Amino acid sequence: MSTQKINLSSLKGKIIAIDGPAGSGKSTTSKMLAERLGYTYLDTGAMYRALTYFALKNSISPADGDKLSTVAKNIPIEFKQVNEKNHIFINGEDVTADIRSRDVTKNASEVAAHKGVREAMVKRQKEIGKQGSIVAEGRDTTTVVFPHADIKIYLTASVKDRAQRRFLELIKSGVSTTVEEIEADITRRDEFDSNREHSPLMKSHDAIIVDTSNMTIEGQVDHIVSLMRSILK
Ligand code: DC
Repeated sequence: MSTQKINLSSLKGKIIAIDGPAGSGKSTTSKMLAERLGYTYLDTGAMYRALTYFALKNSISPADGDKLSTVAKNIPIEFKQVNEKNHIFINGEDVTADIRSRDVTKNASEVAAHKGVREAMVKRQKEIGKQGSIVAEGRDTTTVVFPHADIKIYLTASVKDRAQRRFLELIKSGVSTTVEEIEADITRRDEFDSNREHSPLMKSHDAIIVDTSNMTIEGQVDHIVSLMRSILK
């Protein structure tokens, strides 16, 4: 059954890296996949969001690369499980909900584009990955953070599908918005994340493309597990 944990010794200790544009289903898929495999889930976007939240709260401009790079090196960001859910903390403060705010979402791309910020975050992510048994997701996990990952996936879907999914998610959590507004935001973020100078979002030459336009989340997880089974046997 797809919701059961799978227990294959050949699938132990691996690094699974999943990249893709905003709204492609990366987070939900990666989270579920990690759960099924009994792996650690590494949400690299949450780290850039946490830094953005900290910057906005402390009146640091998202354009101030020097200051942000220094903060990125020292900021005490931690992932911890709370009621079996992945939570993120800065200095012991649970910021899991705050990092999803509209303001943080709007500014995270600019914060994440600074070279020094990326270097500091990638260093931390590699450190976390040393333990293995990890599902990492983001924009550069298949290219820069874990170029030697055992499985590399590039998740994608049409802008329309991605916008529709985000819309339903936001409406469910009580945010008032429109599909058009989200589509415009996704297009702007895709553009920015794909065209920045340092570690832009791109498909690694050896990543497997999974187009999720017509897939359910369960279907995406099943698909990746079957890819793992056939590649890692
Ligand atoms: O996946 P997300 O929406 O939570 O990511 C938040 C921001 O961080 C997004 O603007 C892209 C950026 N990001 C990045 O530059 N590199 C990553 N590995 C992950 C996210």
